[in-house]
Amino acid sequence: MSEKKADRGKWNSKLGFVLAAAGSAVGLGNIWGFPTQVADNGGATFILIYVICCLCVGLPVMIAEFAIGRHTRRNPVGAFKKLGSGWFPPLIGLWGVMCGVMILSFYLVIAGWTVSFIFEEIFYYLGWHGASAWVSDLGNGPKNAFFSILFMAATIGIITGGVSNGIERATKTMMPVLIFVLIIMIVYVFTLEGSMDGLRMYLLPDLSGLNTDVFFSALGQAFFSLSLGMGALLTYGSYLRKNQNIVESATYVTIADMSIAFLAGLLIIPAMFVAQNAGITIIGEDGRLFSSATLVFDVLPGLFKSMGGAFGLIFGTSFFLLLSMAALTSTISLLEVPVSYVIDEHKIARKKAALLVGGLVLLVSLLISFMPSMIDVFATIFNNIGLPLGGLMLCLFLAWFWKAEHAITEIEQGYEGIHQSMVKPVWILFVKYICPLLIALVLVTTLYNLIF
Ligand code: PHE
Repeated sequence: MSEKKADRGKWNSKLGFVLAAAGSAVGLGNIWGFPTQVADNGGATFILIYVICCLCVGLPVMIAEFAIGRHTRRNPVGAFKKLGSGWFPPLIGLWGVMCGVMILSFYLVIAGWTVSFIFEEIFYYLGWHGASAWVSDLGNGPKNAFFSILFMAATIGIITGGVSNGIERATKTMMPVLIFVLIIMIVYVFTLEGSMDGLRMYLLPDLSGLNTDVFFSALGQAFFSLSLGMGALLTYGSYLRKNQNIVESATYVTIADMSIAFLAGLLIIPAMFVAQNAGITIIGEDGRLFSSATLVFDVLPGLFKSMGGAFGLIFGTSFFLLLSMAALTSTISLLEVPVSYVIDEHKIARKKAALLVGGLVLLVSLLISFMPSMIDVFATIFNNIGLPLGGLMLCLFLAWFWKAEHAITEIEQGYEGIHQSMVKPVWILFVKYICPLLIALVLVTTLYNLIF
């Protein structure tokens, strides 16, 4: 991929593109973010709103990002510059680059945790309890910094060295294995005492808990999990072949992403109730589930330990290994956005650009490594506000500057039947009116609640 990207090449195959985009989408957002949000926002009600956000806002925006990317064959800043004049278009791209940099900086710390827990599982199995406790201490600054640097080094290595066969091939085998491990874990959790209470909370909506915050969180989570609003999928779209059906590919990516998040919730929420059965408090005085950036790491290792011996070791290490791989395919796409911007717009060589931008991001990561409580703050600002705002600007730009009809002419390549299909009027309606209105409504209501 990357050697092709340097000369603005194309994806090897249709499946290769879908897998790479799914690799960007499936990551910590699904396995760390989604269950945390479900716990924080009252269970099943959140899932309902989340599905609506993914299908009614996420999917149309993803189609728009792919179309703009493929049409312009540029990085986000260059793409908007090419399609419109004045100060507004490049600003949308720059906003995305900035969000990408900030999201990557805290993402790296969590990704570092996933790697450190591989070691935690091994050390625990070997009986090295001191080392196991040290490596699993989420507040341990130097340790966090070390693993963040490690993760960034791997990301830069892949971005400069060429992603093509490595990542495309790796994603192809990793995804099924990740799903397999998730399913086995879910089956195991269901055999444990207390899990059914969790399942009930996860699947039965309780509309009494519904408030505007739930919409705010669900929309932000949808953008984050689907890699939207900052130009990551726009950039991936810029390497797309003209004969690929954009609508079909976007649908596959959205469904794959939603399904893996759903599976992760099916594991984590019941696992929380199993933990409660074992005497751990998981529900606060306000009747809400405890949740924080560390939720997944607090709940899962205990579960692996309860499996015991080699069995626990195998599942524990493979789970965290797969999670770190899933995170890696996401950090690559997060870094690719600012890197492609620096290469295209400032004419800096790929390797130098990756090192420069990577180093800059790492500086912020180091700060967060020593203050992990900042993760929640960063996630709220950049995932929940930054990305939907990026998506809003993108929809407005597409509808009123570039015009939806031009986008349709682009989408039509690879999908000739679009003119006879309902997809055309429905997508135009969503991208022109429904998506911007929904996003604006959620952002404005949240701002209003915050101030008054
Ligand atoms: N979608 C990724 C995840 O779920 C995170 C991401 C966000 C990647 C934005 C690229 C752009 O983990």
